[in-house]
Amino acid sequence: MRRLLFVANWKTHLGPDEARAYLKTFLAQYRPTEGREVWFFPPAVSVEAVAQTIRHQAGLLAGAQNVYWEPKGAFTGEISAPLAAAAGARAVLIGHSERRHVFGESDADTERKLSAVLDAKLVPVLCVGETLAEREAGQTLGVVTRQLEAALGRRQPAALQHVTVAYEPVWAIGTGKNATPHDAADVHRDIRRWLAARGAKTPRILYGGSVNLKNAAELLAERELDGVLVGGASLDPEAWGALVRTAAD
Ligand code: PGA
Repeated sequence: MRRLLFVANWKTHLGPDEARAYLKTFLAQYRPTEGREVWFFPPAVSVEAVAQTIRHQAGLLAGAQNVYWEPKGAFTGEISAPLAAAAGARAVLIGHSERRHVFGESDADTERKLSAVLDAKLVPVLCVGETLAEREAGQTLGVVTRQLEAALGRRQPAALQHVTVAYEPVWAIGTGKNATPHDAADVHRDIRRWLAARGAKTPRILYGGSVNLKNAAELLAERELDGVLVGGASLDPEAWGALVRTAAD
């Protein structure tokens, strides 16, 4: 049976009370479906509210959008992987394009963070993807491979088994311009090949970038996609509830 993962990245939206209200609406129409999982990545201050609210629900999980790589210490303003875990997070986004391009995170930073997340026994969701200029210059594969190599190149196959990869072309994020299923599938195949060559047997590869209720069915019809990572279209609980049922009824 095909397994699908629907990831909601709330970015800098929905505080604890709003998160609880959102989940009340979402859960009122959520039906667990075999082979489908829904992961929520709220802002750090709402991780505990989300984790507590969904804790008895099958198929749902809470994660953190970012962590610092040190487990603890004098790092004002940062949260660590063990602290995220203590709040109820089970997964962490690593190398999201906004971390890379707004906050200047380097490939080396993504490697340190990924390592910290694995050490804390959390699931890393590693985001990779090219800018428009890189795509137009024919560098998509080179950029994605460089990002994979930097974050995962020194990992043993056993660790790679725990990593989920999200292909998110930077030009598609928040722009309303999604990659075609065909273009996404091309890059997914390259990522799958890269992971397979390093012993990862069943890698899960998501697509992200302007996924919404209208285009989700067409994207998910492409078998290379093991799921979607969704920002803007995950903020409305009813629309998100409908999106996670895409082609399930
Ligand atoms: P978007 O964001 O769905 O709003 O394009 C996706 C993401 O940043 O993960």
